[in-house]
Amino acid sequence: MKVSVKVPATSANIGPGFDCLGLALPIYNTITIEETVLPGTGIEINLMSEGEEVIDEMIFDNIPRDENNIVYKAVEMLYNSIGQEPSELKINIQSQIPITRGLGSSAAVVVGGLIAANKLLGSPADETALLSLATEVEGHPDNVAPAILGGFVLASQEDDGSIVYRKLDWPEEWDITVCIPDFELSTNIARSVLPAEVPMQDAIYNAKHLAMLVHAVTTKDEKLMKTALHDKLHQPYREKLVPGMKEIMEAFKHEDGVLGCVLSGAGPAMLVISHKYDLDKIKSTVKDIWEGQSVKVDIRTLKVEQQGAVILD
Ligand code: HSE
Repeated sequence: MKVSVKVPATSANIGPGFDCLGLALPIYNTITIEETVLPGTGIEINLMSEGEEVIDEMIFDNIPRDENNIVYKAVEMLYNSIGQEPSELKINIQSQIPITRGLGSSAAVVVGGLIAANKLLGSPADETALLSLATEVEGHPDNVAPAILGGFVLASQEDDGSIVYRKLDWPEEWDITVCIPDFELSTNIARSVLPAEVPMQDAIYNAKHLAMLVHAVTTKDEKLMKTALHDKLHQPYREKLVPGMKEIMEAFKHEDGVLGCVLSGAGPAMLVISHKYDLDKIKSTVKDIWEGQSVKVDIRTLKVEQQGAVILD
């Protein structure tokens, strides 16, 4: 038996929502898991890139193809949770989501692997259990939750390990321009530059802005959103890892119609959120800044993907 699952890319944080907000985007990975009948074939893991991004090929080479593969680990954990061991498995990953760009490629493969394996096992795990398992393996509920549910999601891992999550409404009329530079940044490195402690004033700043953001999206308040989309907990520290980031943020600061510009997840991709604003102008501004620093960039204006991971027939 063989099951394929299509999972969307995700963008975590959205400015002040560090480690708790994320949204799904219409770029997909498809994960297929097949329980092979031939004994002794072990695990076979195949990775296929569907994008034109040749730069990803080298990164693909560094992805483990054995029991250390993150998808296999997730699948094994699910089997173990019901007292079973995985049999011989063939895992195919068709990837459109650029890797190490802050677009949730690892959350997508973990979620896809878990949902496919769950189906193979007769669906013993419900949505909450899958979310917990995926977070345990991947570490970021702000990517995992929108990958499973689609849409714009608030997700928090509580101190007891449980995940609290709710879907929020993202205003359909707000455009999201995703700007993906041709350099990579691993989440580990992007987290290593964060301080262990922050000044109380910065924590208060983010709490205020996150509250504003939730109200702004719920009431479609563009003016409030423009104030809300500021953060002091992660972006200022990550700026040094993303050449051009500061200039891009500066460039849109005083533009009416651009609600804000944020790092996508741990970066280096960036999102420009706008309302009734010239999208070509966004593209050319970002392109000029990044290309001026010899960085190639792939820019796409996308809608939030409302559908989360889906099992393909
Ligand atoms: N919230 C996480 C971070 C997302 O910014 O480090 C990682 O994908």
